[in-house]
Amino acid sequence: MVKKYAVKKIGIIERYQEFLPVSEATPIISLNEGNTPLILAEALPAELGLKNVRIYYKFEGLNPTGSFKDRGMTMAISKAVEEGAQAVMCASTGNTSASAAAFASRCGLKCYVLIPEGKIAKGKLLQAYRYGAKVLMIKGNFDQALELVKQMTRDGRIKLVNSINPYRIEGQKTAAFEIVDDLGDAPEYHAIPVGNAGNITAYWKGYKEYKRAGKSEILPLMLGFQAAGSAPIVEGRPIEKPETIATAIRIGNPASWQGALQARDESGGLIEAVTDEEITRAYRFIAEREGVFAEPASAAAVAGVRKLAGRGFFKENTRIVITLTGSGLKDPDYALSFDDKIEIIEPELDRVKEAVH
Ligand code: F0G
Repeated sequence: MVKKYAVKKIGIIERYQEFLPVSEATPIISLNEGNTPLILAEALPAELGLKNVRIYYKFEGLNPTGSFKDRGMTMAISKAVEEGAQAVMCASTGNTSASAAAFASRCGLKCYVLIPEGKIAKGKLLQAYRYGAKVLMIKGNFDQALELVKQMTRDGRIKLVNSINPYRIEGQKTAAFEIVDDLGDAPEYHAIPVGNAGNITAYWKGYKEYKRAGKSEILPLMLGFQAAGSAPIVEGRPIEKPETIATAIRIGNPASWQGALQARDESGGLIEAVTDEEITRAYRFIAEREGVFAEPASAAAVAGVRKLAGRGFFKENTRIVITLTGSGLKDPDYALSFDDKIEIIEPELDRVKEAVH
C-alpha cells in the first residue's frame, strides 16, 4: 500500500470552500495561507489587571508573506485567473502589495502596485520588489494611490485586488472561522486595527456566517482601533493628511467605511483611536514580554484593549481575541529606532563579562 504522508497543508480555499464563492472551475492559487495560531497571552491580562479574562493573539504575521492579506489574496488572485485576467493592480501601505506580488508571481500574472513614497516599511517594499511586481511610488498618500488604481482598473482589463474587490473580504473572513474552530465558539470581544476597514468588515461577515451555520453560539463585540492621526471613522470625516508611525494604517478615507460602521453597530462594539505613544508601548510590550513580534499597526489593537481595560470595559469570565495583523520583521527601521541601541564591543572575554551583569 502507498504510504500516506501525515502532513498535508492546505490553504483557506480548500479548507473553507463551502463558505466561499468558488467552484470546480476555480484554479486554486495558494501558498498554504491561513491556519495561523491563536496564542494565549500570558503577561497582558496581569499587566492590565484583568481577572478571569483570557486574551488570545491571532497571529497573522505567520502567513506566507507575513500578514493577513494572504487570506484575501489567494481568493482575489484565484478568481482573477478564473476570469481570464492577465494583470492585477493595487494601492497599498505595503502588505497588500507584498501579498499581491507573491500570489501573482505564483501564477504568472503581471502585478502593478502603487505605494506612497517614503511611508512604507522597508520589508514590505522589498517583498513587492523581489516577488517581481512593477512598483510605482507615488508622491502622495494611500488614498490618492487607491483613487488612481480605481481609475486604471475601471475598464476591467487590469483587475483591482484591493479590498473593494469582494473576493478579498471573502478570503479574509476565514480568520474568524479559524478562531471559532479553535475556541469552540466565538470570543466575547474581538479587537482589531482599522485602516482601509476591509478586515473588520471581513471578520464580522465571517462571524455572522459561521453562527448562521450553527458553528457558534455567540457573536463578539467588534472593537476597532485607528491611529489618532489617521482616525477618519472615529472623527466622522475623511482626514486629508493622515499621519501615524503605524504606516500600514495611515489611511484617511477608508474604502470599507460602511462595513466598519456596520460591524461596530450590529455587534454593539466600538471604534476608537489610540495615539502613536500608546501604539509604541503596546508594540514593545508584546515583543518584550510575550515573545510575539508584530508590526506597529497590529499593536494598535493591543493598545486599544489596554485603553478599554483601564476604564473597566471588559466583563469577567470572557475571552478577547486580538488580531495581530502583520509580522514585526516587516518594519526593521522602526524596530531599531529606540534608544536601547545594540552595544558594539571588542572580541574579548572581559568586555563580554562587563556587558553581562
Ligand atoms: N494591519 C496591517 C499590518 C495592515 O497592513 C493593514 C492594512 C491593517 C492592519 C488594516 O487593515 O485596511 O483591512 O482595515 N493594510 C493595507 C495595505 C491598507 O495596503 O497593506 P484594513
